[in-house]
Amino acid sequence: MATVIDGKAYAAKLRSRVADAVSMLITHHQVKPGLAVVLVGEDPASQVYVRNKGKQTAETGMESVEHKLPGETSEQDLLALIDKLNNDPGINGILVQLPLPEHIDESKVINTINVAKDVDGFHIQNVGKLSIGVDSLVPCTPAGCILLLKDHLGDLTGKNAVVVGRSNIVGKPVSMLLLKEHCTVTIAHSRTSDLPAVCRGADILVAAVGVPELVKGDWIKPGATIIDVGINRIEAEGGKTRLIGDVDYTQASKVAGAITPVPGGVGPMTIACLLRNTVIAACRQHGIDIPAGL
Ligand code: GUN
Repeated sequence: MATVIDGKAYAAKLRSRVADAVSMLITHHQVKPGLAVVLVGEDPASQVYVRNKGKQTAETGMESVEHKLPGETSEQDLLALIDKLNNDPGINGILVQLPLPEHIDESKVINTINVAKDVDGFHIQNVGKLSIGVDSLVPCTPAGCILLLKDHLGDLTGKNAVVVGRSNIVGKPVSMLLLKEHCTVTIAHSRTSDLPAVCRGADILVAAVGVPELVKGDWIKPGATIIDVGINRIEAEGGKTRLIGDVDYTQASKVAGAITPVPGGVGPMTIACLLRNTVIAACRQHGIDIPAGL
């Protein structure tokens, strides 16, 4: 049976390192990092994420500011708020929860965020920096995937990595990060021919497509490391719902060397990496060396 990669435990350790860094920044530099999270509209899943982000930000000793705007908010008003946060010295990180309502231009909003405060790593300049291998603010979920992989495997050099999914939030950035770790990277997607055969070549398989249990046991090379980024809510017995990944866990765990569960794998790493990015952003804005251990 595959080793279970415990993202929940790793995320807790990372949060504690973030809290140590925050306490050092406050004590030695009189800098209390601040994160502003902006939510437009009432999407229930987004509300849960935003609440958790705020709670964990405060728990690590940082300043947490939430802006909840009605769904009818105009693009102009949202851009004005971002401008205000860009110029607020107490705010080091800005996150606009996606998706935004249809009448708002998502990329315009993202690219209005001060690039140094873009803790999501979605600003076009941060995307560009990541693609040419220059230090940038790196998207949180992909950063979390790499931390788990390195923790489990150590050096990733020379591994065949297959990423299933080509989204801007996960597939593309995680591919860039795997390349930076000297993996041989294949990006597969819905139009890839013979996807099972492509997956079978993977020493590292990252599934980020949003299709419940797409990846089957016989798509997996024996001993491979599986990172399941999927979070799919499905109907369960008794009218309840439950979360499943993009990988058929029962089948995959019989073949793989190691696998992240859903929930409790990659999911908890996203917010932990957001907190880490906020501290990194605060350090850079104040010309402070990024604390060891982050
Ligand atoms: N919605 C789903 N995932 C994300 C994320 O990583 N960042 C933001 N801002 N919104 C999201």
